[in-house]
Amino acid sequence: MSDFTTIPNEGDPEQKPRDQYETDALAAQYCDAHYGAEHFGVPNFPAACARICLDLMAGRKKGRALDLGCAVGRAAFELARGGFERVTGLDFSARFFRLAARMQGEGHLRYAFPEEGEILSFHEIALAGLGLDGIRGRVEFFRADACNLPEKFTGYDLVLAANLIDRLYSPRRFLSTIHERINPGGLLVITSPYTWLEEFTRREEWLGGYKAAGENVTTLDGLKEALASHFRQLGEPRDIPFVIRETRRKFQHSIAELTVWERL
Ligand SMILES: C[S@@+](CC[C@H](N)C(=O)[O-])C[C@H]1O[C@@H](n2cnc3c(N)ncnc32)[C@H](O)[C@@H]1O
Repeated sequence: MSDFTTIPNEGDPEQKPRDQYETDALAAQYCDAHYGAEHFGVPNFPAACARICLDLMAGRKKGRALDLGCAVGRAAFELARGGFERVTGLDFSARFFRLAARMQGEGHLRYAFPEEGEILSFHEIALAGLGLDGIRGRVEFFRADACNLPEKFTGYDLVLAANLIDRLYSPRRFLSTIHERINPGGLLVITSPYTWLEEFTRREEWLGGYKAAGENVTTLDGLKEALASHFRQLGEPRDIPFVIRETRRKFQHSIAELTVWERL
């Protein structure tokens, strides 16, 4: 559901009250990417990641799952619908955590999407409309740091880290400790477009995307090295496209690489 208007003026009763809607542009983009319409025929990314995880979990115990860097939470709800007994979503961003928790608690979210300049469209999205309402009680969200996880987040059969590693301040610390949180035989599923930026990750922390001794080091090389002691890689990497709509006429179309790692 959406309609278009300019940013509401305070005191104008004809306008929608602005504070009922999430107006932060990045948060609105993620609400749209997780719960809004698909674009250019590219399937919803968090739902696609959850589907792949659920296929990988066929014949394995679907006890507890962790969606790390869950943003506004779609994959966590999808994992619960797919049969996990309990799903925890964690994000370091207070804003994303708040939105995911509100979706869990109230079953709906409202956001104002920046269509063009100051023109916004207003959207209300509901779990019920996606067939996700019945599983809300098996999903929980917390604000936490993937590089410094509190002790209580442990004992998972699946950890999904979707488009997280190249946004972490210390992906190396994350990868060297995540095995402690996964049950033997459990899976770690990582996706990333490997867009390393010093704004998020110091150059020394990059897992790949640079030259060493004259040779290209890819992020896949870095992942294999970082995970070798505690995981074995399952299958081949695969490409998962995703689209983030920034405005009515501007979209980011990226291709994440998905890899699967089984805890030894
Ligand atoms: C590119 S977004 C991907 C979000 C979501 N997984 C998806 O696929 O749509 C990266 C997410 O990681 C979160 N993040 C960044 N650093 C983090 C950290 N240290 N611990 C937990 N989450 C973090 C960000 O707040 C953001 O929600």
